[in-house]
Amino acid sequence: MSNISVTPLSNACGAEISGVDLKNPLKSSVSAEINQAWLEHCVIVIRDQDLSDIDQVNFAEAFGQVGDYLRPDTLRNDAMKDRHRSVMFVSNIVENGEAIGTLPDGEMMFHTDTGYAQNPHKATTLFAIEIPSKGGNTIFSNQYKVYENLPKRLKKLLSGRNAQHAYEFGVMVKDKEFYNGPDVRTATHPVFRVHSETGRRTIYVNELMTESIEGLSAEESREVLKEIFALQKEKQFCYEHVWRKGDLIMWDNRCTLHARTDFPKKQRRLLRRVTIEDSTPNTAA
Ligand SMILES: [Fe+2]
Repeated sequence: MSNISVTPLSNACGAEISGVDLKNPLKSSVSAEINQAWLEHCVIVIRDQDLSDIDQVNFAEAFGQVGDYLRPDTLRNDAMKDRHRSVMFVSNIVENGEAIGTLPDGEMMFHTDTGYAQNPHKATTLFAIEIPSKGGNTIFSNQYKVYENLPKRLKKLLSGRNAQHAYEFGVMVKDKEFYNGPDVRTATHPVFRVHSETGRRTIYVNELMTESIEGLSAEESREVLKEIFALQKEKQFCYEHVWRKGDLIMWDNRCTLHARTDFPKKQRRLLRRVTIEDSTPNTAA
């Protein structure tokens, strides 16, 4: 057995893993233990790490094929062009007049990463390099629990249905019902899915990217989504992470959503993102 310990962070989801230094290559027995904790808690937090781009990519590769950066090259700024193809910076920092990352300031609505793709990435790793003195927290919502607590009426109504997802790169708060900008991506996914590794049922819609449910009238779709989005925000289903420099988080995009709280605009925030592809896509429930 390894020295790692797993401590749950809330009743909703999340666990802190300690006793591991990610600068060193992970033994397969340790990555198996971490994977097990991750599947159980949906979000894992490993603190006090000091990771380069390649350290983070190596960590992610222990759990699957690292995901390509899906944004168009025209949206990949010069500072990123020489970095590993999977690295994306989430940051509000501007250097020499150019933003070094994406998704700069303020609040961000609940979403799941790459949900606008036909085969979304199963996991995201995010590493904290610079963190503001307050705010910029990440809230995770457990979609197994939201599914379990969905009214029977909605389970029946939505069973077997698909939802239309869309995203316009760079949007953090959606202020219109349908995206109509130049860089919109779209995908269709079942509303209810079976997680391919845990076999548990989950709901796969979110406020930032899900625009409508197929087969319902526009009004009914709007009302149903509004009801689900409210449920996803309930505190009982959420864990709010207050970042510290050196935190590495890996979350499961198949069964969680995440959102960001606002933070002071003048303070620097810099996190490095590397995603992991899904080799066994979820099936409809
Ligand atoms: Fe995200």
